[in-house]
Amino acid sequence: MAKIVGGMTTSHVPAIGGALHKGLQNEPYWKPFFDGFLPVRQWLDEVKPDIAVVFYNDHGLNFFLDKMPTFAIGAAAQYHNADEGWGIPTLPPFKGATDLSWHLINHLVERDFDLTTCQEMLVDHAFTLPLKLFWPEGDCPVLTVPICINTVQFPLPSAKRCLALGRAVGEAIAAWDSDKKVVVIGTGGLSHQLDGERAGFINKPFDLKFMDSLFNEPEWATQFSINELVEKTGTQGVELLMWLATRGAVPGAVRRVHTNYHIPISNTAAGTMAFAAA
Ligand code: DHB
Ligand code: FE
Repeated sequence: MAKIVGGMTTSHVPAIGGALHKGLQNEPYWKPFFDGFLPVRQWLDEVKPDIAVVFYNDHGLNFFLDKMPTFAIGAAAQYHNADEGWGIPTLPPFKGATDLSWHLINHLVERDFDLTTCQEMLVDHAFTLPLKLFWPEGDCPVLTVPICINTVQFPLPSAKRCLALGRAVGEAIAAWDSDKKVVVIGTGGLSHQLDGERAGFINKPFDLKFMDSLFNEPEWATQFSINELVEKTGTQGVELLMWLATRGAVPGAVRRVHTNYHIPISNTAAGTMAFAAA
């Protein structure tokens, strides 16, 4: 059976793409963020996953406001990136693990998660940049399965539902008849708000409590409604739903590999976490 090696989460601010392109990792503004990936990459060198299942949110590149699935999953052999207007380089295509995609689709639909199945799907900065942060050298060495959670157009799925989705994904991976090693990734957050009166809003105490809760008490965030999460973390801080799904996919107790938290990168409280399956 396939093995889940653990989970990794990170913010996905588009400006990271510019910093990577210009080699600014050691500049004072960027260093506290990029240094958070060094212990995670060391762990990746040890566990060497074959496939990454990536929970992320599309920001209008593949799905726009006229057609917005709550949950969508890729089932393509390749995922192309395209220009979103951020002025950052477009990254080369990512390879898809179509066999795992179809296994997940069958399992999840059977478990009452009615995902939109995408045999073509453009992937935006929320998918491409985290993969580049975890594997900066050359082409991405893992095959991928993108799972998109709507966090941009209301109504959004609840925290409880996203944790349950993650758990169902974890069960499906564990039941997959394969010798592959799988890492689960969640991108977005932590607290940030890009627009409106509260633009620039950040909530450090909430972020730290949330990160901590993922280790021993992943249900903690499910006590909050979506509106409460927006209130506490900002309109885009609600991207923490992807972190919750990721933790849900790694069953039981987990071991902390690394945690990093740095304010700000652009308008965002930037968090990075990795936890190994027990
Ligand atoms: C920023 C953060 C995001 O999560 C995003 O998708 C776009 C921009 C920012 O802080 O600039
Ligand atoms: Fe975002």
